Amino acid sequence: MTSYVTKNGNSYWPSKAMKKIAWINNKSIYKEAAKNPIKFWGKLAKEGIHWEEEWSPKNTYVEKLPYFEWFKGGKLNFSVNALDRHLGQPNKPAIIFVPEDPKEPPTILTYSELHQRVCKFANALKRMGVKKGDAVSIYLPLIPEAAIAMLACTRIGAIHSVVFSAFAPDALRARIQDCDARVLITSDGYYRRGKKENLLNKAKKAIKKTKIKDVIVVPRINKNKNYWGKFKRFDDVSYGRSSHFPPEMMNAEDPMFILYTSGTTGKPKGIIHDTGGYAVQTYWTTKLVFDLHKEDIMWCTADIGWITGHTYAVYGPLLNGGTTLIYEGTPDFPKPDRWWDIINKYKVNIFYTAPTAIRMFMRLGDKWPNKHKMDSLRVLATVGEPIDEHAWKWYFNKIGKGRCPIIDTWWQTETGGTLINVLPGIGPFVPTIAGLSFPGTKHSILDKGGKKAPQGFLVQNSPFAPGMLHGVWKNHKKYKETYWKTYNKQYDTSDGAILKNNLIRVTGRTDDVMKVSGHRLSTAELEDALNKSKFVNESAVVPIPDNLRGQVPVAFIVLEKGKPSEELEKRIKKHVDNTLGPTARPAKVYFVNDLPKTRSGKIMRRILKNILANEEPAGLSTLVNPECVQPIKEMVKERKK
Ligand code: WTA
Repeated sequence: MTSYVTKNGNSYWPSKAMKKIAWINNKSIYKEAAKNPIKFWGKLAKEGIHWEEEWSPKNTYVEKLPYFEWFKGGKLNFSVNALDRHLGQPNKPAIIFVPEDPKEPPTILTYSELHQRVCKFANALKRMGVKKGDAVSIYLPLIPEAAIAMLACTRIGAIHSVVFSAFAPDALRARIQDCDARVLITSDGYYRRGKKENLLNKAKKAIKKTKIKDVIVVPRINKNKNYWGKFKRFDDVSYGRSSHFPPEMMNAEDPMFILYTSGTTGKPKGIIHDTGGYAVQTYWTTKLVFDLHKEDIMWCTADIGWITGHTYAVYGPLLNGGTTLIYEGTPDFPKPDRWWDIINKYKVNIFYTAPTAIRMFMRLGDKWPNKHKMDSLRVLATVGEPIDEHAWKWYFNKIGKGRCPIIDTWWQTETGGTLINVLPGIGPFVPTIAGLSFPGTKHSILDKGGKKAPQGFLVQNSPFAPGMLHGVWKNHKKYKETYWKTYNKQYDTSDGAILKNNLIRVTGRTDDVMKVSGHRLSTAELEDALNKSKFVNESAVVPIPDNLRGQVPVAFIVLEKGKPSEELEKRIKKHVDNTLGPTARPAKVYFVNDLPKTRSGKIMRRILKNILANEEPAGLSTLVNPECVQPIKEMVKERKK
């Protein structure tokens, strides 16, 4: 069996076979790109993407911080690049959809079928009045219609806003209101562990007090149901529509989509990604970081509700003319080897997942992956949080059978695609190390004062990557303050990092953002949700480390009414399920009399963190109410027993 890695000392490097197949096997690309990054990206843009009109060389990159534009004056349509370009191989599978029920056959959409369905649906949206620049909300599980809806928006030049299907109605409503969407695309439900989950009821609740006038429903769990009024079936609206839709030509810097993400306040930010720069970066990072070739099947397990699902489960593989596999269901259903079975059965070549999933499978035992050869695999990758050495080794040995490199990809919703990683044909593949800035991009590690340091805060330097965010929806101030305030003319990632042998190791967030099972959630967002409960007067949320989920939130609550009880704890958790969604549910709730605060009334979460970690809390003298600390300490101790 071909091995794509060789061992040298403590680290792994690409083998001859890997070097032979890889798009890039020579380090010189880094030097070439660094010499003139703007020219480098200009060349990549022309090579990788089809432009209707090109830009003049002086406009390849225009920087007026905090904004910057790439390929200004260039015109393109994204869906032409993802679909029409590949119609020369009309029968090539674009999407393989694997339903949760192993008895339900997969759906395979060829490029030609996908193209037709996207055009028909674009025509349907147009008839509903959707135009270039309008926002469309998408609240769908991981089914082919999600990709069809997203691509149809890009055909029209409408801006899609995908909302994670496990989010609760309140969370969906806030996102619909913020972008002023008139059309919502959803489904009646989806399957989870063999059970039918109702999505339409949540959607119905969410659209109250919004401007939504049409709701398009994919009948996933009840195929024969008809709808009335503003609710319309996905296939009915497309039926009889032309399978031709002249693509809308977009400016490179026109917005393509918004994706809401957690920051340090209660309100999620609408991260804007534009069309041209995102297309170029997505095409090239997919090709070079995952070493995707046209013949390859790539499986990125992320849901389309997250940026990873946008960029690497849908857009990256399609821009490259590859095949993407999407799976609807729970990873360990009906048995803990479901994922490994899918890899074997569909001959997946590139597999991309999150450390939290790897840790879950580790717990379930080696016997499950041991049953499957998985010899089609060539590249394994991870994203979302730092991967510890133990999980890395398990992934390497049990899934890759010691044959495949692991590419640890660092990035964020804001960066649009992976920007720190090693390339499969170059290496080295070292546990816990993400690696180098993608060619043509630059990151530095700074100390608090903004000076370069071997350990500290991770920033990105100019020229900023083409796929970087283009602002925060309707909130210039937020954009400026979040990313551009702390470090002069450098993009603040809010991550900590360490430089090790010139390679970057990312250690995680330095702000009040948690990563719970790889999902991004802010303490303020959860506190906001808790404070909305009639029982809650005040709350403070702090993350604690968790072996499986990376981090989990713990809530400290001062009650407005009611008495501390297990029952009330349950009700409060349920309240979080209903307002934000179960991902955000606190692992534990402590009912306290008072929260530690400074004289100016700021809650000192750090003290609560110390208590939970069994450390002596420091800085009590700055508190206005130091007497509240001892009872909290005792309460935590008692619960830990
Ligand atoms: C974290 C996910 C360490 C980081 C694409 C970042 C990582 C946040 C890695 C963004 C990695 C992502 N190693 N940490 N390879 N990848 N992160 O917006 O803290 O959901 O800031 O985007 O995830 O999360 P987001």
